Amino acid sequence: MPKKRTAVSVTSDRPSSVRADALVLAARSVDGVAELVQTDTLPRAVSKAVSEALQVWGAEGWADETVRLTDVDKVAAPLVLVIGTGPDFPRKGVNGPDEAERMRRAAGVAARALAGRDRAVFALGAPELAEAVGEGALLGSYAFQEFFGAGKSTKAKAPLAEVVLAGLKPGSAQSRALGRRLEVVSGAVAYARDLVNTPANALYPESFADSVSRRSTKQVAVQVWDPERLEAEGCGGLLGVGQGSGRGPRLVTMSYRPKKARASLAFVGKGITFDSGGLCLKPATGMVTMKCDMGGAAAVAAAVQAIADLELPVAVTGYLCLAENMTGDLAQRPGDVVTMRGGRTVEIINTDAEGRLVMADGLALASEQRPDAIVDIATLTGACMVALGNRTFGVMGNDETILERVLAGAGRAGESAWALPLVEELRSSMDSPVADLKHTGERAGGAMLAATFLAEFVGKNGDGEVLPWAHLDIAGPAFNEGSARGHTPKGGTGAGVRTLIEVARSFAS
Ligand code: BES
Ligand code: MN
Ligand code: ZN
Repeated sequence: MPKKRTAVSVTSDRPSSVRADALVLAARSVDGVAELVQTDTLPRAVSKAVSEALQVWGAEGWADETVRLTDVDKVAAPLVLVIGTGPDFPRKGVNGPDEAERMRRAAGVAARALAGRDRAVFALGAPELAEAVGEGALLGSYAFQEFFGAGKSTKAKAPLAEVVLAGLKPGSAQSRALGRRLEVVSGAVAYARDLVNTPANALYPESFADSVSRRSTKQVAVQVWDPERLEAEGCGGLLGVGQGSGRGPRLVTMSYRPKKARASLAFVGKGITFDSGGLCLKPATGMVTMKCDMGGAAAVAAAVQAIADLELPVAVTGYLCLAENMTGDLAQRPGDVVTMRGGRTVEIINTDAEGRLVMADGLALASEQRPDAIVDIATLTGACMVALGNRTFGVMGNDETILERVLAGAGRAGESAWALPLVEELRSSMDSPVADLKHTGERAGGAMLAATFLAEFVGKNGDGEVLPWAHLDIAGPAFNEGSARGHTPKGGTGAGVRTLIEVARSFAS
């Protein structure tokens, strides 16, 4: 059954006179008191009435606060939602979302609250923020329904059917382009979330590859390497991790090559469809959410197709490193030595540090094409969650320019990202007496150590210079174990998808 998707339209009419189920407005928090965010198009009488109601309610304007008003005078919609956006940041030295992201989140809150309704008008701020508002509303409308037959047998409420963005001229080329961008970007994030939410008995390397092949358009060439081919290609990292599972590994390449490409990029994603830890088994509590360990590959799969759909003039190849980390009788053992793509040997220490092994093959393969930059994305380390929490991904790499593009792209997307250093002293802790290196070492600085391992597999360009490379550790933000907030649902979040698209956009002009 095709999923119901939220439609977007725009209006230059006064939002208060638009016929809809609800009018959505925003309030910021000023010294702990809600203050309605004024929009040019909202009549004075309406904003006065709403402001008075906020005062009566004692609204504070904190993020996600929802005030519901009915039958507001001179408002055509029977329901007015005023969503809190919190205070301005930075505040008391603390970082927080910028204004666009605050509006994105508020729109997401409203869209969730309005699930099942037909139509709502969003008038949250200045028209320049309309794209962010639309994005938040569409991201917030997401619900995991079913995928590969897995899901609830009771139907979820249909999402809000139509989002009307106030302050924009309908029918203009500009608003049509905006509608198309919103559809592509929110569709990409929804796909990544679906992949992450799909349980590992339904989503395994082969079915993941099938899904990508089926979903790709003719602008994206998909190639799938099965275990036999991986063997022939010398991908010992993927094979070693995957050999403990009856469901063998796959490497999927997705290639988008537009005619007038201004740059070429490689995206490499960790796709462990389930991480049991392997023989170094995880404790039961740590394993529960490990269907999410393919969040990096999901982000790459979604972003590459979206970049093609947006027709960005940038060549992109995605590498999805897919394997299931299990404990079968052929499972990789601590002490094993494996030969990676490119010929380097690695001594296996802890089979739960499997992500860096599959990523090493992906990075080596990506390097062979000598792209202008490589960006990898992986739910790589618990250490990154200890360092940066559940909502911020770590950014590491070997080149200031690409790091800056990633951080700036994340900023435009409203995704929280923070740079961690790659420090020289960690490398020697991965020296091995029996192989070129081992894949674990010093425990302190685990996210940086994992990145230091990955750096070993980033190749050189034609001039013998190491390729610009950035690594995103999304172990924290890929999966939301708490309840829904802003435009972020429970479960798979689609972390990194919009940042990757923004990175490609930064090369487009
Ligand atoms: N997939 C995990 C990292 C992870 C943990 C992602 C929690 C999302 C939530 C990764 O494969 C792993 O197990 N890493 C180990 C590495 C260690 C054995 C060196 C870790 O972080 O403990
Ligand atoms: Mn692991
Ligand atoms: Zn893992």
